[in-house]
Amino acid sequence: MGPIVTPIVVLSSVGAGLAIILVLAEKYLASYGECRIKVKGEKEIVVEGGGTLQASLTDNGVFVPSACGGKGTCGTCKVQIFNKGAGEPLATEIPYLSKEDLENGFRLSCLVKVKNDLEVSVPKIHEFRTIVTKIEDLTHDIKSIIFELQDGETIDFKPGQYVMMRMPGTEEEPVMRAYSIASKPSDNHVVELLIRLVPGGLMTTYVFTELKVGDEVYLSGPYGEFYLRDSDKDIICVGGGSGVAPIKSIITHLFEKDTDRKVTYYFGARAVKDLYFYKECLELKEKYPNFRFITALSDLDEGDQWDGDTGFIHLVIDKYLEDGEDMESYMCGPPPMIDAAIDMLVEKDMDEDDIYFDKF
Ligand SMILES: Cc1cc2nc3c(=O)[nH]c(=O)nc-3n(C[C@H](O)[C@H](O)[C@H](O)COP(=O)(O)OP(=O)(O)OC[C@H]3O[C@@H](n4cnc5c(N)ncnc54)[C@H](O)[C@@H]3O)c2cc1C
Ligand code: FES
Repeated sequence: MGPIVTPIVVLSSVGAGLAIILVLAEKYLASYGECRIKVKGEKEIVVEGGGTLQASLTDNGVFVPSACGGKGTCGTCKVQIFNKGAGEPLATEIPYLSKEDLENGFRLSCLVKVKNDLEVSVPKIHEFRTIVTKIEDLTHDIKSIIFELQDGETIDFKPGQYVMMRMPGTEEEPVMRAYSIASKPSDNHVVELLIRLVPGGLMTTYVFTELKVGDEVYLSGPYGEFYLRDSDKDIICVGGGSGVAPIKSIITHLFEKDTDRKVTYYFGARAVKDLYFYKECLELKEKYPNFRFITALSDLDEGDQWDGDTGFIHLVIDKYLEDGEDMESYMCGPPPMIDAAIDMLVEKDMDEDDIYFDKF
């Protein structure tokens, strides 16, 4: 090792060591004592400081929704904090908070640590009572479920948003998961969800093995900042798997309104057996000259008859998209697919502010 490298290595090690000590000290030594949380319109609770605001509320019977299990990546757990006890918003919260949210003291409760007394308001979530009216197998691992809203209610949402579904029979300790709405806003008396089986997953195993037509299910929402913007820019949609759900809502809404925006849908799937919402897209393509539909399969099964594009969807975008300037994009799918597609669109001069996505 050379004479300059050695001190650098020593300094880096000391820095890393100090950082670890600080984190451990915060975790094990910091004591904030008892903190009072006044929940506006509900109750006052006393908690041991140091935990997250979300966990402190939930442990004391004040329900705060979560679509990411408290990882700070969904934005569902927003609460309003009225006093200064929570400090300034963290950089990791900012992407999920609008200008109005920040002005009005909204924070992501899963990222706020309780260190002082707090005065908070938890947004009331509206739960829709629904009855399952149709369950259909779309592929080997994706089902479409139609939920009909009861009690004369209708749902007002923007295409792209999602609802939280509560597993029947879990009223005491709700098991809830997020699902994008696949139906279009004009069909406001029903909600269609497209649910992909996650092997070993709690909710999806329930949906695939127990849920049946006639069951009563509670949905809350709508939630989410991923929704179709009211602009006149041309659009690129990217999605496959269960990520088709919000894209289906966006595309069917746009063409129901006879949009004159140019819409290109890049549909990425593994093999022929994973294709669905495919025939509908081919029909739209026939009917509307401003709809372009490009499908690419990345991992064909033996015997698949396929003469379309193959490979990863970001490479197919590279092949067909000349210039992304003045366009906007709506993308939904697994994180690696979305990350690669974002990089490609930015490379094609699309403004990052015009790229909207949900990763799951
Ligand atoms: C905003 C948003 C919208 C969503 N929309 C949809 C949708 O339209 N359709 C849909 O099917 N899902 C959607 N999801 C995912 C959904 O919320 C659940 O995470 C998923 O259904 C698994 O729930 P589970 O209870 O079966 O699995 P869990 O019991 O929560 O998880 C079981 C195991 O699987 C892993 N896991 C969890 N989710 C996934 C996943 N998606 N892929 C691979 N492994 C996973 C977990 O890490 C865990 O190890 C969405 C998620 C978000 C945040
Ligand atoms: S629970 Fe998802 S951001 Fe807080």
